[in-house]
Amino acid sequence: MRKNIVAGNWKMNNDLKATRKLVKQIRKSIKKAELDNTRVIVAPTFVNLATAVKRAKKSKLEVAAQNMHQATNGAFTGEISADMLKSVGVKTVILGHSERRAYFGETDAILAEKVDAALSNKLEVIFCFGEELADRKTGKEETVVGSQIEKALFHLEADAYKKIVLAYEPVWAIGTGETASPEQAQDMHAFIRKTLADKYGNEVADSVSILYGGSVKPANAKEIFSKPDVDGGLIGGAALNSKDFYAIVSAF
Ligand code: 13P
Repeated sequence: MRKNIVAGNWKMNNDLKATRKLVKQIRKSIKKAELDNTRVIVAPTFVNLATAVKRAKKSKLEVAAQNMHQATNGAFTGEISADMLKSVGVKTVILGHSERRAYFGETDAILAEKVDAALSNKLEVIFCFGEELADRKTGKEETVVGSQIEKALFHLEADAYKKIVLAYEPVWAIGTGETASPEQAQDMHAFIRKTLADKYGNEVADSVSILYGGSVKPANAKEIFSKPDVDGGLIGGAALNSKDFYAIVSAF
């Protein structure tokens, strides 16, 4: 059975002290929670990953990176490789976030390379994609999402999906307070699962967790997560507060 996942993408927030504090709070809050089929992940900034991994040890909390470079090593000033992430105990990496695509020029082709680099290093990938407002207004959301998935992931063998989590994040709902309605999220998630089923068959499609991201908060998490094809959330703003984050985890 596929897992439910609540992942906090901290983006460029939280210095060392704040990272220690938030990891401690979240670790404590989930200690007694029954998380049978739910994984809880936080993604701090690169410089605080090692600390977060150490502080999350022997707890149910997992730590992911927010990005990664596709090359093994070399002259790529300011970049971080899969090996470096692994060396500090990170097992999961977020790739393809719309902020990486929009502000740092990450294309589908680059993302395909990043996915390959992560998987060949045995890192799990949380792969993000989603349409912009103009796409939705013109009814192109499925075409855009279908193409993002196809271009970055469809070169993979079926087996690779054991290490892939998908995260649908409509750009118009990120950090705007505007959330996709539970029905809009379900419709898109069902489309995503069908896209996977058409290419790889039902077994693969049913095994992949598909997260929704975009202004998820304690007040709307339960309804969004209640939809059959929504297997959790990728949380931005509300992941920076341990009470809000835990309330979202508790929505399952
Ligand atoms: P918000 O929850 O702040 O809208 O951010 C969502 C997101 O981008 C998570 O990756």
